[in-house]
Amino acid sequence: MSNLSQGAVRDLLRIVIVGHVDHGKSTLVGRLLHDTNSLPAGKVEEIKAMSDRRGMPFEYAFLMDALQAERDQGITIDTSQIWFNSDKRNYVIIDAPGHKEFLKNMITGAAQSDAALLIIDAEEGVREQSRRHGYLLHLLGIRQVAVAINKMDLVKYSQERFNEISREYRAYLTDLGVEPTFILPVSAREGDNIVTKSAAMGWYDGPTVVGALDRFVSEPLSTDLPLRLPVQDVYKFDERRVIAGRIESGRISVGDEIMFSPSNKTARVKSLEVWPTSLAAPARVTAGYNVSMTLDEQIFVERGDTISHVKNAPIETDVFRARLFWLGHEPLSIGKTYKLKLNTTEAQIQVQKIEAVIDTGDLSSASATVVERNQVAEIVLRSRRMLALDAFNDKPATGRFVLVDGYDIAGGGIISMEGYADQRQLITQRSTNIVKVEQGVSDDERARMNGHRGGVIWFTGLSGAGKSTLSVELERRLFEKGYSVYVLDGDNIRFGLNANLGFSPEDRSENIRRVGEVAALFARAGMIALTAFISPYRSDRDRARAAAPNRFHEVYVQADVKTCESRDPKGLYEKARRGEIKEFTGISAPYEEPEVAELVVDTAKHSIEECVAQLITYIEANFSLRAASAQLEARAR
Ligand code: ADX
Repeated sequence: MSNLSQGAVRDLLRIVIVGHVDHGKSTLVGRLLHDTNSLPAGKVEEIKAMSDRRGMPFEYAFLMDALQAERDQGITIDTSQIWFNSDKRNYVIIDAPGHKEFLKNMITGAAQSDAALLIIDAEEGVREQSRRHGYLLHLLGIRQVAVAINKMDLVKYSQERFNEISREYRAYLTDLGVEPTFILPVSAREGDNIVTKSAAMGWYDGPTVVGALDRFVSEPLSTDLPLRLPVQDVYKFDERRVIAGRIESGRISVGDEIMFSPSNKTARVKSLEVWPTSLAAPARVTAGYNVSMTLDEQIFVERGDTISHVKNAPIETDVFRARLFWLGHEPLSIGKTYKLKLNTTEAQIQVQKIEAVIDTGDLSSASATVVERNQVAEIVLRSRRMLALDAFNDKPATGRFVLVDGYDIAGGGIISMEGYADQRQLITQRSTNIVKVEQGVSDDERARMNGHRGGVIWFTGLSGAGKSTLSVELERRLFEKGYSVYVLDGDNIRFGLNANLGFSPEDRSENIRRVGEVAALFARAGMIALTAFISPYRSDRDRARAAAPNRFHEVYVQADVKTCESRDPKGLYEKARRGEIKEFTGISAPYEEPEVAELVVDTAKHSIEECVAQLITYIEANFSLRAASAQLEARAR
């Protein structure tokens, strides 16, 4: 058996050419094709003759128009890619300049390029679109960027003008965190510094456009990253199941133990094939290939699952942050639901938050309630089910997504998990060989003995909102009324049971997972557990709710950051503002307000006494057997 890896693929650089509409993209591409002898024989003569007939001077941009026209008529087979080659390697220009769907293609990742050539008109200088395109390149993770300052002939090949524009644009890119690899003065029309060095610009000693492109490296096909293989299809042949998809990163071998996310099932690879297949069944295949495989056991797999190895599996979460470029005709707004396309997965996703809208012109950000067409924004998205995904910075191939509104691609973006936890370990770790034992005393018996049912009163809210104060006061009052009640408090539990946990998103989630389970045990034991934890994540609170079904009551202790900060009972906000506490909730870490809490107590508007009274009324009505039987009696009468 053989191994298939991309070493066999010829050196090819995929480039994208961007810039303001009139800054000369077509001319530059025409010139590139011509000067590298990449045009079909006789093409230039043909177009020159046609220009003569029409009494128009020949322009290189006509070459592009001619090629476009041939494409439109179906003469040229490939509709979106233009090939040329230098002495060093082959190039493919992804998407024709001026193509209407350009931004869409770029965002969907259909047009993944290794490098970009960005064109700026020497006369006009840096335009809004020059900035937006630069931003988009950055957003999509294209790090190799050459900037061609075109039409130098129109500014008399002035070094001063060149320096002026390159200073301005370099400063913009540097603010973005992009280091332009080359900035070059060119004239596409005259052929200066495209393939041959310009005689008119002796002051410039850098490379030509092709020289610059030749120095870029073609991105390795991520074979060294962990395996990601989104399942595209599952074919059934009698008893056999064949799983097919494209390897986005990493490598896979026969015999590997693989995991399917988010279902978290595992199996071993029994056989591998590449398709379309002309090659013998390989033992190992790497990124870039389409494969089909069979497994050693029949497990349920479906389109949209992500295959990885058991180690280095993708993140599992139902919430993530995104940097989004919006193309939709309708603005994106909070609470609206869209179809998310992520690798081969599709899921309904809701906009939970718009954190900022970024002005691609001056890179300033502002808060907003909607994102308009052509704007870039930082948002938080939430789905109803668990998703398997990656952060773009770690794994670009599986860290980007598209949003669909109706039938239209309305936006695209990249994923960040900053401030959010990988929820995988919270839901998947289950010991084997465990058997449930029935309890000897029933819930009803306990309730009759205590005079009330057991349950969980789950306080959530910012630090300083009043969770601990309320719960301790409530505990005292309920105890005096004869309730069996106990407070589980964040700070206290972190002295013992959770002493090994900090405040990272993962640790907070684990903190809440454990407390959720403990509180559920208290409730089953017949007591009322009052829990006072920030519990900033909705998903964690929902899991705590699921641990105590029908006895979980979420109480949102409402007080905004400003109020809590002015109270600052432990002096922690001040420390956080000084940067001495990292990941402080409300300042530098997220707090997700409950969507539907059983009760909201507003400590900014009401006194502690009033809030406690509100809580006692609620608890008496929901937990006391006396109240329940009084109700029954009243109804019977
Ligand atoms: S939770 O986020 O994991 O639910 P928890 O309620 O247990 O937090 O602990 C919160 C308490 O820890 C706060 O009241 C505060 O006293 C203290 N604390 C220390 N560091 C932080 C931090 N980075 N963010 C929030 N609270 C912190």
